[in-house]
Amino acid sequence: MSKDLLKHKIFEIISETAAELNVRAFVIGGYVRDLYLKRPSKDIDIVVEGKGIELALAAAKKVGNPKVAVFKSFGTAAFNYKGLEIEFVGARKESYTRDSRKPIVEDGSLEEDQERRDFTINALALSLEKANYGKLIDPFGGLKDMKDKRLITPLDPSITYSDDPLRMMRAIRFATQLGFTIEEKSFEAIQQNAERLKIVSVERIMDEFNKIMLAPVPSVGLKLLFNTKLLHQFFPEMVKLQGVKEMNGQKHKDNFYHTLQVVDNISVNTNNLWLRWAALLHDIAKPATQRFDKKAGWTFHGHEPLGAKWVPKIFKRLKLPLDQKMKFVQKLVNLHLRPIVLAQEVVTDSAVRRLLFDAGNDVDDLMTLCEADITSKNKQKVAKYLNNFQLVRQKLKDVEERDQIRNFQPPVDGKEIIEAFDLNPSPKIGEIKEAIKEAILEGHIPNERKAAIAFMEKKGQEIGLTLVKKIN
Ligand code: CTP
Repeated sequence: MSKDLLKHKIFEIISETAAELNVRAFVIGGYVRDLYLKRPSKDIDIVVEGKGIELALAAAKKVGNPKVAVFKSFGTAAFNYKGLEIEFVGARKESYTRDSRKPIVEDGSLEEDQERRDFTINALALSLEKANYGKLIDPFGGLKDMKDKRLITPLDPSITYSDDPLRMMRAIRFATQLGFTIEEKSFEAIQQNAERLKIVSVERIMDEFNKIMLAPVPSVGLKLLFNTKLLHQFFPEMVKLQGVKEMNGQKHKDNFYHTLQVVDNISVNTNNLWLRWAALLHDIAKPATQRFDKKAGWTFHGHEPLGAKWVPKIFKRLKLPLDQKMKFVQKLVNLHLRPIVLAQEVVTDSAVRRLLFDAGNDVDDLMTLCEADITSKNKQKVAKYLNNFQLVRQKLKDVEERDQIRNFQPPVDGKEIIEAFDLNPSPKIGEIKEAIKEAILEGHIPNERKAAIAFMEKKGQEIGLTLVKKIN
């Protein structure tokens, strides 16, 4: 039956080439796992008892000579074929990982290579030998573990995790992506070795973390990261969110578990990683702004702008992109309470225009974040808020259709103000520009050029300027 799994022509070609070179070759790792899980995959790993590079070069020759990338010091070679990325490596005794801290590896047998892999489900191999083509080689019971949905290491977990501490993150990532449970012994080993994550580069940690963030229910992984204390190694701000204080019998909600729920909520509605990040960070500065007031109870005044201020430093430390994506997260963290205020009050057109002005094209994402932020257990309350948000969304649409504020461009520019009043550079130009913007947002004049010019002339004269040229 497993023969059918290797239907692609490339496997037959590699099998033939391996026979010619008199080496044993196997498909191994994630590709085999994903075949059984019926997840499409384009990365194929071939492990060879013997020289992986030679087999890669010979196989590439047979399929039209694609460019082969050879990494001599790692004994690996790879090429692309019909959208597949095929990597060849010699079987090893030592840790498999490419960027392991121990690049000196000894040649080994298939089984020695398999036992040095991270999980039994990732140690499955399919033979490319002519005599038993397609045969599953599963010395550690990976197929059974897959059926039982369990993550188990082939060796004692403390050995597997110390070979490469990133595997602790991978365990949680696979648990989250696949809905598998981490075997208890493994879970304990992660708890014991959590601090060793510090020797792993933050880029590799973040690759795994972002895969957790993109899973259907990210909170599964976020909770595991917290419970194993892996989160403590790279994300202390998140850890600080956890906990509930009590004063005069009043408790606030636990901001860590609230945040997790917001991330799960938003993940139902978006696959945009950065919008999910905005959910993750929306309350990040709550612990730093927490106060107890006898009348008002627990308050977190100013946590949105402070959180927004922290976003660049968090992104920098975690080596996340510092471009528009970071700015987007920062903007959403800063504005995340604005629609809630709108939903609680009678919505005025000017408040809607101001929100459109501040959020610009991200206003829909901001609304998605705010809807996800409603985590009350009181169903009636949730329904009421969501209904109010519907009204806010409608109002945003109506006002935008009429006034076009989302991509606000001043209808009169600074140069024209200079010409009209024959000014040298002066703060008065900025004052007039600001007054025009305010008049539009307040609804005193429409967002139109003619009205803006008339307003400019009047405002200029009010602040003591003389009109010298009519602008059209
Ligand atoms: N591997 C390992 N330890 C690691 C990374 C990888 O043992 N720290 C082994 C596993 O056998 C894994 C294979 O190398 O299946 C390929 O690794 P990689 O391509 O990084 O991951 P996949 O398991 O294929 O998973 P995904 O494609 O979802 O990242």
